[in-house]
Parts: sequence; structure tokens; C-alpha cells
Amino acid sequence: MNRRNFLEKLLIFALGIVSAGVFAEAIVVIYRFLMPFQKRKTLKTFVCFSNNLLRGQAKEASLRGNKIILLNNEDKIVAFSATCPHLGCSVIWDRKGQTFLCPCHMAAFDKNGQVLTGPPPRPMDQYRVLIEGNSVFVFVPENYWAQREV
Ligand code: FES
Repeated sequence: MNRRNFLEKLLIFALGIVSAGVFAEAIVVIYRFLMPFQKRKTLKTFVCFSNNLLRGQAKEASLRGNKIILLNNEDKIVAFSATCPHLGCSVIWDRKGQTFLCPCHMAAFDKNGQVLTGPPPRPMDQYRVLIEGNSVFVFVPENYWAQREV
């Protein structure tokens, strides 16, 4: 085997390894996309103390790789995914207008996560919240991408 043949085989081998990796990533992404949000295994995660979140106030947090928005809605604390259900941009809380806004395609959601305007096909994804004493916990899914961010 001459050097040229060796380099060709090495290149083909490297491309095969990269292709296999890309294919495996694609399978995982498709699986995560098709798996219903509510059916994923979730982990109880502390977010904050309830007295730090006044009525009508929201708090953003990143829990296990999931960006969430915690909102004190009429003294009931609720948690939504900050990922827009349209194409995945980050949603923000507009305290003055008491709505969630997505700047990408000008969508708005009410404080229950229901679509008010814009192209999103469904309401915002919501997480289960548990209040224990003064502590606020949110049940968030294990995030595949977060596990890679070490
Ligand atoms: S990504 Fe949010 S409205 Fe399009």
C-alpha cells in the first residue's frame, strides 16, 4: 500500500466515523422531537423561594439545560418553557402588558400560555410546579443537550 492509498482509506474511514456520529445525533433529535413533552422523565429541581416572586412577576431560570419562565400568576406560581412552540426562539415576559412575547415572529401568549397572536400552533409548554414550605420546585425533563454541556 502506497501513501496515496493509505491517505484515501484514512479519509474514507474518518468520513465514515463523522457520518455515523451525525446519523446518531439525528436519531436522538428526531426521537426528542417526536416524544411528547409531558411524557419525558422529569426531575424535581429547586428554583427559588416563593416570597422572592411577587404577584405578576416572572423569573427566568435555566434548569438542567431547560430555559424556563416562572410566573406568579394571581398568587399561583406556574412554570413555562421559554422556548417558543413555533420555531424555538426564546420567549420573554412583558410585565407591563402581562403577556409572554416572542420577538421572532411577533407572537404573544397570555399568562396561562395560550396563544393570543402570531403563528405558534399550540400553547406554551408548561412544567409541573411544587411548593414545599417556602421553596419552589419545578419538574423538568432531563435535557440531552445539557448533559453534553460539561
Ligand atoms: S419562533 Fe416564536 S413566533 Fe416564531
